[in-house]
Amino acid sequence: MSKIRTNSAPELFLEVRRGNAEPLHVQLEQQLREGIRGGRLLGASNLPSSRALALGLGVSRGVVVEAFAQLAAEGYLVTRPGGSTGVADSAVVAAARAQPARPRAPRIEFDLRPGRPDLDLFPREVWLRSARRVLAEAPSQRLGYLDGRGVPELREALSTYLNRVRGTAAGADAIVVSSGFTQGLALVAGVLVARGVRRVGLEDPGLAESRRVIAAAGLTVVPIAVDESGLRVDLLAAADVDAILVTPAHQYPTGAVLAADRRAALLDWAARGDRLIIEDDYDAEFRYDRQPIGALQGLAPEHVVYAGTASKVLAPGLRLGWLVLPASLVEPIADAKLRADLGSPAIDQLIVADLVARGDLGRHLRRMRPIYRRRRDALLLALRRYLPALKPVGASAGIHVLAWLPSGLDAARLVKVAAEEGIGLAGYSSPTATPDGIVFGYAAASEPAIREGISRLAVIVTRTGVSRRT
Ligand SMILES: Cc1ncc(COP(=O)(O)O)c(C=O)c1O
Repeated sequence: MSKIRTNSAPELFLEVRRGNAEPLHVQLEQQLREGIRGGRLLGASNLPSSRALALGLGVSRGVVVEAFAQLAAEGYLVTRPGGSTGVADSAVVAAARAQPARPRAPRIEFDLRPGRPDLDLFPREVWLRSARRVLAEAPSQRLGYLDGRGVPELREALSTYLNRVRGTAAGADAIVVSSGFTQGLALVAGVLVARGVRRVGLEDPGLAESRRVIAAAGLTVVPIAVDESGLRVDLLAAADVDAILVTPAHQYPTGAVLAADRRAALLDWAARGDRLIIEDDYDAEFRYDRQPIGALQGLAPEHVVYAGTASKVLAPGLRLGWLVLPASLVEPIADAKLRADLGSPAIDQLIVADLVARGDLGRHLRRMRPIYRRRRDALLLALRRYLPALKPVGASAGIHVLAWLPSGLDAARLVKVAAEEGIGLAGYSSPTATPDGIVFGYAAASEPAIREGISRLAVIVTRTGVSRRT
């Protein structure tokens, strides 16, 4: 497991990760060099002693000495009389000259944006082993054009996995592999339009991207309110929609889990009117206090489109997702997938199939859960300590937390100013919900970085100008 050590003197946030491909001294060198070039370290005329820095980072002094020596050789650092190390005057001048020329795209130093797993902990070794196996063993015809459902190995592996872990009733023949959830939703929306559907309900608050995808297909999006028990299913009867997109296991972004009576009422609504539920099950594998709630699809496979994704459990860059479809939708959706792009990359599908079938995905998730739970705890603790006016909500699950802002605080403005100061955040504001909120992602940041990021955010929040809506 990679181990992260940080030194968080306020003007000098440095972080080294054991287990990274880069040796520790190279990681340190890169951050110091970047800090000097970017102007962040120019105020630090003297750096901490190698002994103090080594202690703060939990590395041997030799690591720091080697990094300092390299940067001195490059002309970034100098040894001052008395033995202290500082930024060289020539580097100060060069960095100052470089400043105005560079349009300041703020570097995200503390990444608290939602939706991102820790990509440094992607199971590269396991992926490589599976890739090797797949290339050695896969029949050549797997490298040709596929049918629109995806490679059979992945559909078989997902069927077994989802039925066991998520309680679905998914036959391999009912699965269509897509390029992430986003494409899966677009395919479903397109087929619904072709079948005469006009209005689709969407949770409010909900994922803006999903709203865009559904609207782009030509459907009218009807917002349906969400409270602390999830979707307000009682509002569906009056909403006059033929389908609803929901996140029952962990509502995005509020983190609510759909209450048992509402699950039953939702299934009843779908069955009575022959309507469709699209179940976005994007992060259900991450539940920290108990077993995740099972998928709705298992209870009504003919009324539910189940949508899963590799984006949280592995990495969004894979662009792999999967739909489990009612029988009547399999062919039209598979056709739509072929028309869209002739299928998702076969080798990646085969690798994921191998990971899933061998239990490597399960092992990866068992490794990640305690890490993400600790990061969630660190975020909640830091919010309580530094920003007690923010109100975090939601189940102990997933890789994000929504915190409501005190009324009057403007999410968009706070996100903008935070970004200028190196803190990546996402805001939430809705014309229908009164307070704004911040959706904090905690999975991609180390615990010390989360604490430091939130303490810096607190400074921004208390500054006048950001604290009230203008
Ligand atoms: C609610 C929700 N659903 C699904 C996804 C995954 O989308 P995709 O599989 O296209 O990456 C995300 C990613 O942020 C999400 O927040």
